Amino acid sequence: MDIKYNLKSASERRTQPFKPDGDVGFGKLRTDHMFLMDYRDGQWCDARVVPYGPFEMAPGAMSLHYGQSIFEGAKAFMHDDGEIYTFRLNKNAERMNRSADIVCIPNIDEAMQVKAINALIDVDRLWFPQQEGACLYIRPFIFATEDRLSVSPSQKYTFCVMLSPSGAYYASGVNNGIRLLISTKYHRAVSGGTGASKAAGNYAASLRAGKAAAEYGASQVLYLDSTNTQIEEAGAMNHFHILKDGTVIIPKFTDTILKSITSQSILELGEMLGCEVRQETVMLDKFIADIESGEIIEAGGFGTAAVVSPVNSYIFEDGRIVTVGDGKVGPNIKRIYKLFTDLQKGYVAAPQGWVKRV
Ligand code: PLP
Ligand code: COI
Repeated sequence: MDIKYNLKSASERRTQPFKPDGDVGFGKLRTDHMFLMDYRDGQWCDARVVPYGPFEMAPGAMSLHYGQSIFEGAKAFMHDDGEIYTFRLNKNAERMNRSADIVCIPNIDEAMQVKAINALIDVDRLWFPQQEGACLYIRPFIFATEDRLSVSPSQKYTFCVMLSPSGAYYASGVNNGIRLLISTKYHRAVSGGTGASKAAGNYAASLRAGKAAAEYGASQVLYLDSTNTQIEEAGAMNHFHILKDGTVIIPKFTDTILKSITSQSILELGEMLGCEVRQETVMLDKFIADIESGEIIEAGGFGTAAVVSPVNSYIFEDGRIVTVGDGKVGPNIKRIYKLFTDLQKGYVAAPQGWVKRV
């Protein structure tokens, strides 16, 4: 499908590369344009790049009432040649369609999703933040727009892509580590539910848990399965831990865990990473016992926004704290973080097809 362009006039758009004064933060800024495409009469149509701005939407739009809305998160980086490169967008497009299936939204051709993102980045390329560690965060999303109040799949949708010049998701970053609340009270997903999708409602449901986490001085909840025996994932990242022989363990992807593209990448890196990476069912009791015995030496989370975020400690709802190792960021996490970000930034050659020039 061809893309139409209705761009801001030259005087309204950025004309010089973006050199932020202070830290850009995560997800706060927007670029000049967005990509839009609509679904009606059984097909996606009207692909366009337009100025970033508010949507006009009926108060009865079904996404507002029943939450039929999904999103993705990806990143683009500037390499030393001054060009912008996206990271594994095809995986995001594939997962968008998996999420779409879970909440009955019509799929969008994966190549079209990638084309849309590239078209938008191309138009707003001067917005790439010229700052150490910064990126263009890419947020594609789809929401139901039909004005109807029955609980059934909408017949109309909008697909939008917006860009946010961004820095680190966690202010404490890779240098300090974060604390997670292990909750037996709040759950993110149950088998047969929407946990494996990036459905907006999953994140609405995590807010109350996030508030509880903050009350415990934690950054996020580490969710358990509904029987409170297995470790699943955190609100915005997969979980992992590292054994004393260096093996990285990621909980098995189930229908209650989002299949993280960062986790998949770490699993696929194999020998490049210099250690074994495998997936297992992770039992909470054994996990805690293994931290206490020194069998587990490091832990953290994988995610596009979170990148590789070390966890320094866990807190339970009764106030008990379990510190991982000496509570400092360990050498394995530092090595994984460096390799992963070096691949994204083009300092190390990434596997074929992972990094693509816009
Ligand atoms: N789990 C959840 C619930 C998430 O929201 C995210 C973020 O996208 C992740 C895991 C990490 O996935 P990815 O590495 O694809 O960003
Ligand atoms: C991402 O890592 O891209 C996400 O979507 C997590 C988010 C909820 C900030």
